[in-house]
Amino acid sequence: MTEIKVAVLGASGWMGKVHTMAWATYPHFFADAPRARVVALVEANPAAAADLAARAPGARILQDWQSVVADPEIDLIDICLPDHLHYPVAKAALEAGKHVYCEKPLADTAAEARELADLARAKGVISRVGHAFPRNPVHDLAREIIQSGEIGEIRLFKACQHIDVFGDPLAPFMWRADGKLAPTGIIGDTGSHVFSFMEFLVGRVSSLIAENLILTRSRPGGEVTNPDATNLLCRFENGASGIIDFSRVATGRKFRQTYEIYGTKGSLAYDYDQVNRLQFYTNDDREGRRGYRAIDVGPENPTYRAFLPLPNFALGYNETKIIEACEVARSIATGRPSWPDFDTGHHICQIVDACMTSAATRAWVDIPGA
Ligand SMILES: NC(=O)c1ccc[n+]([C@@H]2O[C@H](COP(=O)([O-])OP(=O)(O)OC[C@H]3O[C@@H](n4cnc5c(N)ncnc54)[C@H](O)[C@@H]3O)[C@@H](O)[C@H]2O)c1
Repeated sequence: MTEIKVAVLGASGWMGKVHTMAWATYPHFFADAPRARVVALVEANPAAAADLAARAPGARILQDWQSVVADPEIDLIDICLPDHLHYPVAKAALEAGKHVYCEKPLADTAAEARELADLARAKGVISRVGHAFPRNPVHDLAREIIQSGEIGEIRLFKACQHIDVFGDPLAPFMWRADGKLAPTGIIGDTGSHVFSFMEFLVGRVSSLIAENLILTRSRPGGEVTNPDATNLLCRFENGASGIIDFSRVATGRKFRQTYEIYGTKGSLAYDYDQVNRLQFYTNDDREGRRGYRAIDVGPENPTYRAFLPLPNFALGYNETKIIEACEVARSIATGRPSWPDFDTGHHICQIVDACMTSAATRAWVDIPGA
């Protein structure tokens, strides 16, 4: 394959725009990476056609996703559609033998996600879920510190992700608050990002207990039928505990994403407000000199260096999507999966499912291993 042919679905939405940008942009930073070209943009909204034509010159502009899934020219189906379409579209694409890159959450239920992960494996194609936050190089640094044993055994993971899009009770209704279009609400939408950090940095979750909250039931334009906020406690397979909360009604918090990881020999702390900075504490420092040190990820990390020659010049959200698109292209060219593939996407959906079950039953829920 000299050039990977990509179809972006849901092309005029937020993620559709970001993915289309990422496909065009990554060769500027990763010159050695295999080439990809967006050859089709699929968007149900016909009013978007002129704008789309300008963003991916030469690409076909289409309105039905079935046509690209059936098109032998296309190698990769890139799904940026609302959540409820991920499963049927990914399934059809995998059955047609396409590589699939799907925005999060992979599916509405763990059973659907399992089916997709099994199908991807059976077809021998590359699968990838759009959990891009952990692909900021600062989290490679966190993972390297953990894996080297510098903070010892992990005992506690604490994290939050807070936004306030629905903080105002009069903020208008949208598909994200509709239990039919997004059955798990904030859990699949925002919780899944926290769960991706958990899988990347700590490991798999074995059990949890969760409380789901709908804080404003009626909004201008519709009834809210999925959770606004969730508080949860969990246990990881490696014995660590977790305390996590996420919310779309955290008035004043435009985007707050933090984690703290406490081990037997040290700890790590991260706050998205300092997007490339990791706080590191180690017992190896001598008495009287102990304290958190701030480490700004920089060009010693090859992914960071691809973008910038100096530390702390801020690699942000869009760069993580550029990194992600490049990693998808590399996976397709080499046949080697990259994190997070559909197996990880399935585990994240297991955690989402367990939150829904736990909140409904007001009990701890076990999550079966792979
Ligand atoms: N990874 C991340 O950080 C991140 C951030 C935001 C959204 N997301 C995920 O990306 C997905 C899309 O979210 P968004 O914010 O871009 O939504 P959006 O509403 O901005 O965009 C969705 C687009 O899909 C189009 N669409 C809907 N049904 C269609 C159909 N049948 N065929 C073709 N086009 C159709 C809509 O017209 C719209 O343009 C969601 O699953 C969301 O959870 C991920």
